[in-house]
Parts: sequence; C-alpha cells; structure tokens
Amino acid sequence: MLERLESLRTGALERVAAATDAAGLRAVEKEYLGKEGGVAEILGAIPGLPVEERRDAGRGANELKVELLEAIAARKAALEGELVAELRDAGGFDPTMPPAAPERGSLHPITQVRREVEGIFTSMGYEILDGPEVELDYYNFQALNIPLDHPSREAQDTFYCDEDHTLVMRTQTSPVQIRAMERMTPPFRMIVPGRVFRNEEQDATHEHTFHQVEGLVVGENIQVGHLTWTLRRFLNELFGRELEVRLRPGYFPFVEPGFELDVRCPFCEEGCRVCSKTTWIEFCGCGMVHPHVLAAGFEGREDVDPGALTGFAFGFGLDRLVMMRFGIDDIRNLMGGDLRFLEQFPC
Ligand code: DAH
Repeated sequence: MLERLESLRTGALERVAAATDAAGLRAVEKEYLGKEGGVAEILGAIPGLPVEERRDAGRGANELKVELLEAIAARKAALEGELVAELRDAGGFDPTMPPAAPERGSLHPITQVRREVEGIFTSMGYEILDGPEVELDYYNFQALNIPLDHPSREAQDTFYCDEDHTLVMRTQTSPVQIRAMERMTPPFRMIVPGRVFRNEEQDATHEHTFHQVEGLVVGENIQVGHLTWTLRRFLNELFGRELEVRLRPGYFPFVEPGFELDVRCPFCEEGCRVCSKTTWIEFCGCGMVHPHVLAAGFEGREDVDPGALTGFAFGFGLDRLVMMRFGIDDIRNLMGGDLRFLEQFPC
C-alpha cells in the first residue's frame, strides 16, 4: 500500500509541475483529490487492509492530500506570476502608471457659495435653520404682517398647493422667522438659507425657483447699528476687502423701519457692468423686526415678553451672489441641470 502511495505521489507531482494553466491544475486536483480520485481510492481500501498496515496507510494518504494541495497552490501562484510577467514584457504595460482616477462629481455653485455664507455667519455665532418649502399662508404672509388682502402679495404670486390657497410654495425664507420665534428663546441669531418659489415671468435675472438667505437676530436693545455692522462684516468677509455699505428706506411689511442695503461694488472703482455703472450694488432688504411680527411669533409663549424685545432681519438672494462670484450672466443656468454648465465649477 505504501508503495502505491509513493507512486501516486510521484505521478501527481509530475502532473502538477507539467500543468500550464489553472484548468490543467483543476484537472489534476480532481484526478487525485476528487471523490473518485486516487487518494479517495486508497482511503476506501483501508478497511480491507491487515490491521497493522491501516494506520500508516491512513496517515500516508492524508499527508499526500496536504502535500498535493500545497503543490497545486504554489504552481497556481507561479503560473499567475508568469502570466503577469508575460503581459508586462509584451509591452504596453507600465506598472508605474497611476490608476485611472474615478470620476468625481462636484458641488453645485450655489452649494459652494451657500457653505461660504454659512461659514461666515456661523463664525459670528449664528445658528443655521431650515424650514418647509411648502408653507402655510399663515407663516409665509399673515404672521409676517401681510394680511390676506395686502397689496404686497401682488409682487409675490406663487404656486398654490390647495383649492383655498392656505398652502403655498414659500415665496421667501422669511416665514422661518416666525417658526424660529415659536421655538427659540431670545437672545438668538440665526440664518435660513433655502429655496423659494414665485410665479415669475422668466428671463436672465428671474427664475420661478431661486435661493434666499434670511437672517434674524432677536434680543434686548438690538438696534439698526447692529444690523449695518453685521452685514458689513459679512460682506467684507465674503469679498475679502473693506467695503462701504449704505441704507436707503425700503418697504417690507415685516420690518419697521425697513431698508434696502447697498454695498460698494467690489469689482470696480468707477462703475462697471456688475454695478450697472453706479458703483453700488443693491444687496438686500432689511430692517427692524415689526412689533406685529414679534407678537405673532412669540404668541402664547409664557417665557417671552415680545414687548421687551427688539430685533433686526434681513434677506438676500443667493443666486445673485453666485452669479457675481462666478461671472454667470443668466440665472436660468443655475437650475437648468446641464452638466456642461455645472462642470465649469469644479471644487
Ligand atoms: N423676504 C424679502 C423678499 O423676498 C426680503 C427681506 C426684506 C427679508 C427685508 C427680510 C427683511 O428679513 O427684513 O423680498
């Protein structure tokens, strides 16, 4: 029996060494180690052997099995190595070449600028809030001192989500002012970047879907000086230089007094295309929060006395900033979803 084992071993090792590919190795494995292979045959014959031979025969068969498996694995690795060497030597294979870079997307230009804005306000202690895009008329208009029959609604026609117009696509991020007052305890500072919607005639500067950043600060003794200081700081950070700002009277139902804040054009000294040759850029609407708005927002709050509080608010368009930053001349590109446009703003 031991002789039989030895001849099996020699034959098998020769076959392994002679195999030239993985399929050949699998055939050898099957022939010697398969269910009906040589080793199985020996194991099956053991019960018929004289007792004193059985042990050595069993051990010998098992050792052969292990040895063969190792030999097959080693030969397989060697064949693979040969294959790689062959491909390499055939030319066209440069192991020092970096792998093809995976395709990467990039952040939308609006996201890039929004994050920058958030970073600046966060550094000034502002929280970043969010609110629903499908909003109740109450939050979008009424609580902001814009009753149902108010003429300023004319300029903010939107998309209505139900028959009686109680649910609207929000026309501004200002409704989050009210939602913040309902939940937060003064003093607080927050901004709300977000998407807004209007029934607009579309052109290079008007879209039905665009982006605003709302700001609100509520506390004791908040004054107009805090408002101008804050917005000037923000603009200086954003444009990387000291810029003048100015206030003009402006009407928004939810602030009193209300202003339009202009900033000195960061791109020129004596007038350019961006500032329409005026050297000033209209930046945002702002003002001191109207007492009606404070009353509506804090209504029912026992821990807050809206009469003892003041605040300022502002709201600016994010799309405008993005267009200025990247020199984009048509707002419709921003939400157009055209990759040829978006790929121009990698980050
Ligand atoms: N929500 C206003 C708009 O869409 C912008 C605005 C003006 C926001 C004055 C304010 C503000 O918070 O105080 O035109």
